[in-house]
Amino acid sequence: MNCSVHSDYHQMSEFAANEILSVLAANPKATLCLATGDTPLLTYQLLVEKIIRQKIKISQIHFVGLDEWVGVPHTNPGSCHYFLHKNIFTPLNVNLKNIHLFDALSANLADECKKMNELIDRLQGIDLMLVGIGRNGHIGFNEPGDAENNFAHISQLDPLTIEVGQKYFTETIHLQKGLTLGLAHFYAARKVMMMANGIKKKEIVKKTLEYPISTQVPATLIRKHQNAILIIDKDASGQE
Ligand code: F6R
Repeated sequence: MNCSVHSDYHQMSEFAANEILSVLAANPKATLCLATGDTPLLTYQLLVEKIIRQKIKISQIHFVGLDEWVGVPHTNPGSCHYFLHKNIFTPLNVNLKNIHLFDALSANLADECKKMNELIDRLQGIDLMLVGIGRNGHIGFNEPGDAENNFAHISQLDPLTIEVGQKYFTETIHLQKGLTLGLAHFYAARKVMMMANGIKKKEIVKKTLEYPISTQVPATLIRKHQNAILIIDKDASGQE
C-alpha cells in the first residue's frame, strides 16, 4: 500500500481524479466501483470536468455500485443511486446499460446480491474500486467484524453507521441494513483507492495505518492489498 498525503481536500481530490483518469487511459473498457459520500464528492466533480474538457471517451466503461441503504428508494437524494446519477452518470451522460447498481427495494435482496456477484464475474472483475472510510473503519458497508471472504451481501449496519448516515438525508430515516460488495471484492479489485479527509477522520486513519490488520477495523485490510493507495489530506493524516 502507498500513502499519498496532500495539503488540503482540493489537492487530494485533484490527485484522486487524475488517478481515475489514468485507469481510464490505460483501459477504456475498465469497470469502476465508486463509493458515494462526502469524501469523494469533489473528486467526482473534478473528474467529470476533466472528462468533458479532455473529450475522453467513456462509452465502454462500466460502473458497478459499491453499496446502498436497504429500503431507501433511488429517488431519495440520500440514496447512493441518486448521488451517483447526480454527480457522475447524468453529467457524463453514461449509457444506462453500463450502470449496475443495487436495487435496495427489491423483494429478494439475496437475489440482488447474487446478480451483482454474477455481473462482476461477467465483467471479469473490478479494475478500480474507490472507497471512503467510515468513522468505525467500514469499507462500503462491511462493518467491523464482518467476514473477510464475503462477496455481495446484506449487511447489518453498525450503530455508528446508522447515526452518521443520517447526514445524507434531510428527513429522519430508518436505516438498519445495507447491500454492499464484500471484502472479497475489495481484495480482488485490480486497484484500490481509499480516501479520507478532515480532522473527523484523523483517528480512524491512524487506526487504519497502525492497528493490527483485522476486520475489527476493516480499513486496515488495505495494508494487505497488492495495489492500493491511501489518499488523505493533512488534517486526516494528523501531521501538524
Ligand atoms: C458510501 C460508502 C461508505 C462511505 C463512508 C465514508 O458509498 O461506501 O462506506 O465511504 O461511510 O463516508 P463519508 O465520505 O461521507 O465520510
